[in-house]
Amino acid sequence: ISSLPAETGWVVDHLYQYQGFWHTSRELQGVLACQKHFQAQDSDILLVTTPKAGTTWLKAITFAIVNRLRYVDNPCNHPLLTNNPHELVPFIELKLYVDNQVPDLTTLTSPRLFATHLPFVSLPASVKDSSSACKLVYLCRNPKDIFVSLWHFTNKLRPEEKGTNSLEETFDKFCRGVSLYGPFWDHILGYWKASMEKPDRVFFLKYEELKEQPSLRLKMLAEFLGCPFSPAEEANGLVDDILKLCSFDNLSNLEVNRNGKMSSGEGYNTFFRRGVVGDWMNYLTPEMVGRLDQIIEQKLHGFGLKF
Ligand code: A3P
Repeated sequence: ISSLPAETGWVVDHLYQYQGFWHTSRELQGVLACQKHFQAQDSDILLVTTPKAGTTWLKAITFAIVNRLRYVDNPCNHPLLTNNPHELVPFIELKLYVDNQVPDLTTLTSPRLFATHLPFVSLPASVKDSSSACKLVYLCRNPKDIFVSLWHFTNKLRPEEKGTNSLEETFDKFCRGVSLYGPFWDHILGYWKASMEKPDRVFFLKYEELKEQPSLRLKMLAEFLGCPFSPAEEANGLVDDILKLCSFDNLSNLEVNRNGKMSSGEGYNTFFRRGVVGDWMNYLTPEMVGRLDQIIEQKLHGFGLKF
């Protein structure tokens, strides 16, 4: 484990590199605890993202797909109307195994739904194990939009007296791979390769695809998870209902997401900003775009990944 002063770049004072990826000290403790204690079950579903790839959206959608039969006759009681998606689908390393906790997860009803930002290489052995049948859903997003979203997010979390992060410095770090759970290219590649090797276990999805073809991608996701929509469900408009329930406009305007807070005190509203594709155009200079394009080209295009 090596450490790096984060200077003005992030919310924290230091980042630590472990297995090739950067973490805050608190995250890292969680990563190590997960590796030691998390025991995957075959019916588990693990949602994986880098921060700002659309985790909140993926959590909402997957929760709604998996639990749809329980609320189809009583949509007004849907948990997503009164709970932030992060409460319903906890991060293993950021919520369950933080602060030296070793929770008993064996009593949770199946399928257990968890999330993580862990890079593939750092997943607990029981998840990666070739005999395990648990399913991973990886959502990635155009790195330019991830960067802009992350920059806004870290600004919101910084104490006011520290002012705004420098866009240029933060960008430089991002391009050098120094960001939460970065380098982003290695994070994406780990899961891309895994999805090629084991398509029945790793479903690779892009935020942009979900925006462009929401019903198609939702149905593909349900199919991958082993709970495809029946023709009757489709005819009854269940796919559209879920998309509406989980839409940016709907979720971001719910009372819980406007005014609710995490146990750490940050508002749930920090997870909702614009929710669009291509906002990077409003922030990045042509030089920045050129630099990031070159990285994406060098690191990802050869593997068939384009944004
Ligand atoms: P922007 O900052 O570009 O608006 P994460 O959930 O991984 O932290 O990612 C947050 C990003 O996803 C933010 O992007 C946020 O606005 C967007 N987002 C949150 N909920 C969404 C939803 N229901 N649909 C689409 N985008 C959503």
